[in-house]
Amino acid sequence: MTDGITRRSFNEFLLAGAAAAGLGLGARPATALQTADIAWTSDNPHLGGNFAPIGPELNVDNLPVIAGRIPAGLSGAYMRNGPNPLFKPIAFTYPMDGDGMIHAVYFDSGRARYRNRFVQTAGLVAERRAGRAIYGSFTHPVPIDPTLLQPQDPQGPFKNGAFINVIRHGGHLLALDESTTSYEMTMDLDTIGEWKAGTDKPLRLGAHNRRHPKTGALFAIAYSHAEPTVQIHQIDSAGNLAKTFSIALAAPTMIHDFVLTERYIVLLACPAVFDSAAARQGQPFLQWRPGMGTRIGLIALDGSTTQWLDADPFFVFHFANAFERGGNIFIDYVQHESLALGYAQQAQKSPTLHRMTINLAARKVSDTQVAGMVTEFPRINDGFDALPTRFVYLPTLTDTLRQVKPPSATFNTMMKINTETGDVLRHDFGNRIAGEATFIPRGTNGEDDGYLAIYAFDPENQTSDLILLDAAHIDADPVAVIRLPQRVPQGLHGNWIPKD
Ligand SMILES: [Fe+2]
Repeated sequence: MTDGITRRSFNEFLLAGAAAAGLGLGARPATALQTADIAWTSDNPHLGGNFAPIGPELNVDNLPVIAGRIPAGLSGAYMRNGPNPLFKPIAFTYPMDGDGMIHAVYFDSGRARYRNRFVQTAGLVAERRAGRAIYGSFTHPVPIDPTLLQPQDPQGPFKNGAFINVIRHGGHLLALDESTTSYEMTMDLDTIGEWKAGTDKPLRLGAHNRRHPKTGALFAIAYSHAEPTVQIHQIDSAGNLAKTFSIALAAPTMIHDFVLTERYIVLLACPAVFDSAAARQGQPFLQWRPGMGTRIGLIALDGSTTQWLDADPFFVFHFANAFERGGNIFIDYVQHESLALGYAQQAQKSPTLHRMTINLAARKVSDTQVAGMVTEFPRINDGFDALPTRFVYLPTLTDTLRQVKPPSATFNTMMKINTETGDVLRHDFGNRIAGEATFIPRGTNGEDDGYLAIYAFDPENQTSDLILLDAAHIDADPVAVIRLPQRVPQGLHGNWIPKD
């Protein structure tokens, strides 16, 4: 195993770049605020620090590049969604609640511009009219004051905040929540409305979806809070719903992500189940039931067959990738020992990168830990979705972040892990908080020919940067560090939207 060592500290690198650009590290370009800032505060660690939401919606051209330079050939937008509650929540569980806010950096001709916007969901519209939060938490629903709702408003109990992911498929830019309707956006981040995928009613989609490498079809899932089923949608490359079928489960189950191979949809039904009766008695709506074990479903792409395999209980939010090779299915994912939502429920054992191997002939499941560092938000070069991959990009936390007891999902170092050899390259951002990396493809020189786009926040100077790393050499100095005009809160998932 080799560790990549950054040649000089990230701080030193930034200071040199900022000096060259004529900027103090705390400098902010002058901008006009379009909306009022958020005034409320909360004791919830996932609503404080860089998890605290922001109010301003900005348009800023010609972002300062404080280190490196923007590749001239980069043409498109890096967009990232995240929970950014406008009103102080009645109840809040990270990462399941909030209002979507998309932060986008658009690249063209070696320049970058920034724009951020709320996703104007029907629930947010109702709360804006009320002037306060109406809806409760995904995990702790609350009764809604009927005097605050009008007939056209979502009747709850949950709010679809469309805050988890942002993707483009078939020319449609979509803000996604969890197994509910998605909101179509313009490339300028204006909200168009609920997306119907060519049908006559809004389509329920999960937060994560996978594109088939041969057909370009998008596979998506939508689980139920009430019924022991999950719907699987196949949406053609033009963005029209082509097929929907249902898979039976043992209980209503939360399934946040799934994977695809060339022949199978692979669903992991972990024992995270919804219990309405428990919720009515004040218990959490979402319960961890390890006695049920984790079941692995291998579903033919057309839904014609389903095989279930059994494994010990664990939880998975996110997969990196899966693929078939030599009679096996390999699945790279981040394993949690149990479902742990929010700060109070952090598990004893840190989540780490695992590889599961399924021998198809023997119907045998084996699992190994690829690397022992705490992590989440694994990503690959999405052009290799469902195809053999070696490289997973995912953040970890090191002691160069000077923060006592950081909330879960706080990271400061990007890793590139070779799942075949176990080799790890690192880029340590020091006392900067970073999140998920998004792969931006560059050329045709292999799986790691591209850039990683990462938002990073400096708590000392209260500044946020977009950092571009060379995916082939993430331990090298950044390709570019672009100063953003405001703090960008910790978010969830982003994607690269190439220019048409
Ligand atoms: Fe997710």
